[in-house]
Amino acid sequence: MDKIAWVLLPLVVVVGVLAVLAWRGRLPPRHTLNVWFSLLLMLYLLGTAGLGIFWVANQHLPVFDWHYLFGYATVLLLCVHLAFNLRIVVQHFRRRRREPGVPRAVVAGVVPGVLPGRRPAISALGLLGAGAALGGAFWLGLRHGRTELRIEAGSATGSASRHDTALALIEQFHEFSAHSRLGVFRRAPGTDWGDPPAPFKTYPGRPRVALPAAWRREADATASDGQALATLLWMVAGVSEQRGPIAFRTSPSSGALFSTELYLHAMSLDGIAPGLWHYDARGHGLESLPGAAPTIAQTITQTIAPPPGARAAIIATAVFRRSGHKYRDRSYRYVLADLGHALENLRVVAQALGLAVRFEAAFDDAPWSHALALDAAEEGVLMLAWLLPGDAQATALTEAPREAHPRWTLPLPQDGAPLGVTDAVHRATSLRSAPDDAQSKPTSVSAAVSPMASRHSVLLPQAPMAPFDVLATLATRRSQRRYRRDAMSLPALAALLAAMVAPVPVLSGAVRIHLVAHAVTGLAAGAWRYESATQRLHAHGEPIADRDVPALRRRSRAAGLDQDTIGDAAVVVVLAIDRAAFAADPAGPARGYRHAFLEVGRVGERLYLAAPTLGLGVCAVGAFYDDEAAALVGVDPAKEWVLHFASVGPV
Ligand SMILES: Cc1cc2nc3c(=O)[nH]c(=O)nc-3n(C[C@H](O)[C@H](O)[C@H](O)COP(=O)(O)O)c2cc1C
Repeated sequence: MDKIAWVLLPLVVVVGVLAVLAWRGRLPPRHTLNVWFSLLLMLYLLGTAGLGIFWVANQHLPVFDWHYLFGYATVLLLCVHLAFNLRIVVQHFRRRRREPGVPRAVVAGVVPGVLPGRRPAISALGLLGAGAALGGAFWLGLRHGRTELRIEAGSATGSASRHDTALALIEQFHEFSAHSRLGVFRRAPGTDWGDPPAPFKTYPGRPRVALPAAWRREADATASDGQALATLLWMVAGVSEQRGPIAFRTSPSSGALFSTELYLHAMSLDGIAPGLWHYDARGHGLESLPGAAPTIAQTITQTIAPPPGARAAIIATAVFRRSGHKYRDRSYRYVLADLGHALENLRVVAQALGLAVRFEAAFDDAPWSHALALDAAEEGVLMLAWLLPGDAQATALTEAPREAHPRWTLPLPQDGAPLGVTDAVHRATSLRSAPDDAQSKPTSVSAAVSPMASRHSVLLPQAPMAPFDVLATLATRRSQRRYRRDAMSLPALAALLAAMVAPVPVLSGAVRIHLVAHAVTGLAAGAWRYESATQRLHAHGEPIADRDVPALRRRSRAAGLDQDTIGDAAVVVVLAIDRAAFAADPAGPARGYRHAFLEVGRVGERLYLAAPTLGLGVCAVGAFYDDEAAALVGVDPAKEWVLHFASVGPV
């Protein structure tokens, strides 16, 4: 039953009973009505207060904000009211039970303090009950003390076991950050995320270069380094629309929180001096960072050699608190998925401008963090991308390690890090170049793609995407949450799926594509798994009959944290990762988790890019119940983890 129905249920029952009594001409006297409605009032007030206190404790909300203070005063008054009136209620029911013949007027004359017997005890009991309910709510809200994910620095020493320890931590983190309906009762976030930080980072007082306006159509692009760079940065992180206080950006971002920051290591770009720069997204300019260019280059190249022809490096970071003040200990998932969307835009825009981008799968982020003077506890380096001339081959990252690379070691977890699990999981997925004696090899795990077996499968029609203007698409891109109720066509779905598995270099081969079809002409409703090699959809379970589609929509919506955009979609795309496949990443299993999340984001962004040409809208959805999501598309959580939803529908 919908939660609105649950909340209204007591009220509806009482009003219903009264209506029946009134209809039979036996409406209770005023006093009885007073008692009934007092009980209802108490129930609702205690429910409101209990939930309020639970969430204040659970979410580390400021306990003494104005509205909470009024709330506490109201609860106090309720308790006093209860102390005065509970005995009347109890007496009312007692008399009705023991002395059915007693005229109601006698009961109506009862006032507190007049009746003999155990009345003070009753009041005390009522007070105690209310206190216990509210205290219980507070205690449940504070459950993190015993359930917080604890990272023991000592447990991850010994270089040989570090990859195993890191994988164990990833498994713990993933479970810890999963949403489930009962999860809030089991634990609360372990980190105090404080107030939201500034949405943009700036370097006041530093030399600044204003960037030319980005090209908005591919036809406008000419041979100009400065404007190509300006276009590239704007199409990845620029402000494309201001709506009230929110500056919407070219790439989507969970909660419109935009944790991603971009930095530039200019090496040989016309019109941009070599050195380190920060992209000021709000002002669309570059801010020069302190530090002499040759020294920086030297520091960096100690751990990584730029590929031949590299003209610049783009360093992508996440300011964790931007996401954390809303998403808390699930934030690391969101910042990776957000960045994945932005990275795909970087790749397609570079391609559209005749450039190439090469994502560096394994690199030591410490020298970059140091060179950029980041506060590593608050802002983490997540990806390094080289900007290359268009003819440079961007190799498939999971298949061809670029060089006989240094062995990697993993940074140790830090006790007492202010961002708790976010810090721990970021460290676990980071790499440090290590001297030979500290080398650590990931355990080799089989990453074979499991064969698909299903009773029903459908061969998708050949449906090549019509070419579209990438720059124009990104300049106007927005998430769409409302869809027309019409069905979408099977060729449109086939084109969308083919676009998602575009043959481009990947960061991870672990991504698996599932979908729930609510309304696709020519495809039975239900959960399907996409097999790109054969262009087939394999059904999970039996196809759903038309009359059961509303129930399927309700189930999808429920799994998607009750979001309408999921229930209303024609198709819900569900992206999962194969656990064995990400654990087999050449840079280690924990780094594999980061790569898989980034890759999921990239695949999700391809939906945004392809959808408008097909007359479809898309909304990425990172908030879902993990257990219900797995059940919805029939994946076994021991083998696959669902990481991402996207609603798709005609607009
Ligand atoms: C990883 C990720 C997760 C998201 N999760 C949700 C979600 O759960 N619900 C939702 O309505 N929108 C979600 N969004 C969409 C964002 O809210 C949206 O991108 C943001 O508000 C900016 O709006 P725009 O995409 O129109 O520019 C998500 C976006 C991303 C990239």
